[in-house]
Amino acid sequence: MRKKIVVGNWKMNKTISEAVELSSAIIDQLGEVSASCEVGIAPAFPALSGVHGVISGTGIHLAAQNCHYEDDGAFTGEVSVRMLDEAGCSYVIVGHSERRQYFGDTNPVVNLKVKKALSAGLNVILCVGETLDEREKGITTEVVTCQVKEGLEGVADIGDIVIAYEPVWAIGTGKTASSLQAQEVHASIRATVAGLYNEPAAAGVRIQYGGSVKPSNAEELFAMPDIDGGLIGGASLNAEDFVAIVKAAEKS
Ligand code: PGA
Repeated sequence: MRKKIVVGNWKMNKTISEAVELSSAIIDQLGEVSASCEVGIAPAFPALSGVHGVISGTGIHLAAQNCHYEDDGAFTGEVSVRMLDEAGCSYVIVGHSERRQYFGDTNPVVNLKVKKALSAGLNVILCVGETLDEREKGITTEVVTCQVKEGLEGVADIGDIVIAYEPVWAIGTGKTASSLQAQEVHASIRATVAGLYNEPAAAGVRIQYGGSVKPSNAEELFAMPDIDGGLIGGASLNAEDFVAIVKAAEKS
């Protein structure tokens, strides 16, 4: 039985003090982290340490939204995995579609980041997903399979990786993939992992859905056999909504 995982991706929102306030509100409303669902939050870099101070000891994971693939050096504006580790992160999101779309994170770059994060002992949330144009052309499976394969190139053990399927057309748009549309892609991702690794690896890997998850649709999505939780953007900026989504995952 795979343990569900719900992570809030706060993107470029919340100052340090606002992030501390939101994480405190999440803790208050969530109470104990349940054994049936892992919970994580991914504030912007400046707020990582402050949020770590608030959540440490609660069982909530601290996640970063991105990392660089070099150890250190002259990479102005970038953040290394050792910095994230020391800030208290246990997860890093890699290959989010906004990184791919606006910052040139290609599959090979994503792959380098995945490997660097794993080498620092971080768990990785590897994001994949097709654009509307790709879905309409009927190439969703090809695109997502290629992102998974190239993202995991040279990764011997998938144990520290969570895959997030996030159709680009559903992110921040209010449009959610139907539970059946999402399930279909999740099943194909699991089959890809089986081909790359083996059946036990495929059966064990968690595949989150992301893209306009809300309290009103979370339960139906999380009830699907291959959907193991969610990567939550907009709704994670509201403690009540985020906690309601976590509770939906705990129940499913
Ligand atoms: P959304 O974002 O929930 O606002 O659609 C999801 C994500 O980008 O991770």
